[in-house]
This record gives sequence, C-alpha cells and structure tokens, in this order.
Amino acid sequence: MENSRGNWGSNIGFLMAAVGSAVGLGNIWGFPYKMGANGGFAFLIIYLALAFIVGFVVMISEIAIGRKTGKGVIGAYQEISKKFKWLGFLGIAAPMLIMTFYSVLGAYCLEYLFLNLGDLAFGTLNMAGGDLFGAMLTKPGACIFFTFMFMAICFLIVKGGIKDGIEKFNTVGMPALAIMLLITIIRSVSLPGAAEGLKFMFAPNFEPLKENFIGVLSVAGGQMFFSLSLAMGAIITYGSYLSKKEDIVKNSAIIVVSDTCVALMAGLAVIPAAFALGGEGAAMSGPKLLFITLQDVFSAMGNIGPLFGAVFYLLVFIAAITSAISLTEVAVTTYADRCEKKGVTPNRIKATGVVCVLIFLGASVVAADGLGSNGMWVPFQNSLGIVGAFNDCWLDFVDFFAEGIIMPLGALLMSLMVGWEIGTDKIKEEVEVEGNKFHFYTFYKICLRFIVPIAMAFILLGQIDGFLGLEIFS
Ligand code: PHE
Repeated sequence: MENSRGNWGSNIGFLMAAVGSAVGLGNIWGFPYKMGANGGFAFLIIYLALAFIVGFVVMISEIAIGRKTGKGVIGAYQEISKKFKWLGFLGIAAPMLIMTFYSVLGAYCLEYLFLNLGDLAFGTLNMAGGDLFGAMLTKPGACIFFTFMFMAICFLIVKGGIKDGIEKFNTVGMPALAIMLLITIIRSVSLPGAAEGLKFMFAPNFEPLKENFIGVLSVAGGQMFFSLSLAMGAIITYGSYLSKKEDIVKNSAIIVVSDTCVALMAGLAVIPAAFALGGEGAAMSGPKLLFITLQDVFSAMGNIGPLFGAVFYLLVFIAAITSAISLTEVAVTTYADRCEKKGVTPNRIKATGVVCVLIFLGASVVAADGLGSNGMWVPFQNSLGIVGAFNDCWLDFVDFFAEGIIMPLGALLMSLMVGWEIGTDKIKEEVEVEGNKFHFYTFYKICLRFIVPIAMAFILLGQIDGFLGLEIFS
C-alpha cells in the first residue's frame, strides 16, 4: 500500500533528496579537515571500509524502516518495536540539536559568499583568512542575521512540501554542486605545490593507525555517520515517502557511493590547495580549514580569486541547505504524522514555521558565541575542568550530545533492534515487497547483527573519549 501522505515524484527525485541530505558540510567542511588532522591516507582507508560495511547496511535498514511504517522517526519506532519504542525521541532530538549549529556554519558560508562578491565588485577584502574569520566571529549581530537568512531559506523550501519543495530544489541544487566542485578541484590540483597534498591523500601510510587506531576509527566512524545522515531520523523520514516499487538496496548503494565520492572530491578541492599554500601544517589546521586556509587560497589567486571564492562558498551553502532541509523535515513529518493520527489535516506552513523558529532561537546562542570568541558562558566547561577537543564553545557543547552521543548510541540501538529484536527478515520482506531482490542479504545480516554493534560501541567510546579529551585510547 502506498502511504496516504504523498510520495516523491520519482525515484530520481528521492535519490537527489537523499544525496542532498547526505552531501553537506560534513563532506565539504568536515571530511577534508578530519582527514587532514588524522593521517590522510590511513583515515581514508578506515573511512571507506566503514562506509561500505557499516554505513551501507544501516542505510538499507533506515530506508526500509521508514518505508515499511510510512511514518516519521517517532511513529516508525513506536510501530516497529516493543523494546525500543522510545528510540524515535533520540531521532528527533538529535536533528534539532544539530541544526542549532549547522545553521550557523551555513550562515558563515553565506557571509563568506557575500564577502567574496563584495570583493569582486569593489575590491574591499584586504585581509588574511585568519583575520577575516576572527573579525566575523566577533560580530554576533551579523552572524545572527545570516543565521536568520539561512533559516528563512530553509523555511521557504521545506514549507513547499516533499515533492514541490524539497525534491525540486535538490534536483537543481545537486547537479549544480557537482559542477562547481569540479571547477574548484581543477584549480586546487593545478596550484604549484599541490602534488604534496595528493601524496598525503593517496600514498599508502599506515603509521597513524599504529599510533592511535581507536582514535582514527572513532573520528572516521563519527564522520561517516554524520556524512551519510544516519541515526538522525532523516533517512527514515525520507524513506517513509518512498514508493514500494523502488529498489532499496540499489538506492542505498547509490547514496553511499555518491556521498563518498563527494567527500573525496571535497578532499581534492581542499587538501592540495591547503598544501600548496601553507604546507602540511595548513592541511592539518582543523575546523578552520574551510574558512581560513581556503580563503587564503582564493585571496592568493589575484583578481580572479574572489570569483572562485564566491563560487566555492555558494557551493558549500547549497550543500548545507539541502542537508538542513532534511534535518528540519524530521520534525515537520513527525508533526504531520500526529495530525494524521488525530484525523486533522496538517498545517505544514505553521509546523515548518514553528520548527524553524525554535531552531533559530537555539542557533542564535551558537551564533552569538562565535566559536567561543565572545567570552560567553558555556555549560559544564570550567566546572568539570574538561579540556581536549571539547573547546569552550557552544558549538562543541551541542555537538558533543548530538554527534558524540546520540548518533552513535542511536545507531547501536537501532542495529540491536533490527538484528536481535525484530529480525533482519522483516527488512528483507520490505525490500522484496514488490519483487525487488535483496542482493547481498547474508552480508547484510552478518554485518548488522555483529559488525555494526561492535563498531558502533567502539565509535561511541572513542567519540566520548575524543570530545572530553580523556585520552583513554591514545
Ligand atoms: N549529512 C549531512 C552532512 O554531511 C548532515 C546531516 C546529518 C544531515 C544528519 C541530515 C542528517 O553535512
């Protein structure tokens, strides 16, 4: 039975939206800097292995759970499981938390886009990337304003609905993104000195794994989950609008492969450029890579620089907004499900408005904090005397709960639920409901029951260790 809440217009529409959700700041901002800071090639190998053994398997499960129940994340878990009924609440808390900082990072991209456009028109940008970023962070008013713009755009797309809003935007946005990314790669790898960066990415070197295997595993695992939009309710939600005719296994493979390719492409756009400009130190500079190092790359290109800068930050903005809409849709679909249950017609515009305003309120705090630049009070920090990666800033505080705990915990519990409570047969039934074959079923079953829970447990421990800076594993 097709569910009554409407479906994607086509399978391509679903794919574009799911890839749009997956491809985001995680790929373009997160992947290159995490790869840079965690050993280049070694990180890449672990990442690829996890994407195909864990990510692919969880992706199939989430799409199947969504489609089987035809419900958003809360309704889906309530319907499918007795023991893990409450799991959907994690699946809705996490996207809301993530959005409070995701929208701020998206806002930075928007601000950089305008700064580069301004530079192109009036030549106003006479600043090194570091100074530019610093100056931006210490102007909370502007950051809150751009966060508002980001959320307003998100609202306009999501309120249009699954087919007319989200699907339409992604079907144009995703191909545009791929083209712009290609242009940036060509520029990056042709810079003098870029070859060192390519070597760092692709020449075999397993040293970093010997030094800190769990550390690299947990960073790569956390990154992979975030990048594939897993354990966040987003894929369950999008899956709930998928027609029964479509092949879940094939779609999952396409989403995983595309997302991984874009992460690699983003690596190619960012890492060689960082090497060319500032050497290995620049490539390892962490979260600043996108906003400081790359801006320096553009500035060093002379007159054409701001044009590349504007194109690049527009690209990152598109990637961010297509992910943000999927995170926002998780809550909007949940509301629509509740209305359906009560027999009333959902008011989508109102629901989207309420969700976006709530996110904006939380995001204003993160924006005002400016990654800790403005001396704002941050919960827990000093009282616990915590150091480590958990910096004194609101972004890290929120991210610790969302990406550090809820995501890996959610994935761990979901794999236990499917593998040991409801059984992988149920997923097989859903995949094959209209005659599609579940290829690789044995592989799927073994991975989901054994490998995913073990990997997730290590990733969870490693993430907590990394965020809190306990250094148990290093
Ligand atoms: N996958 C997105 C990215 O890489 C972020 C995201 C996470 C979106 C979870 C939806 C759900 O940026």
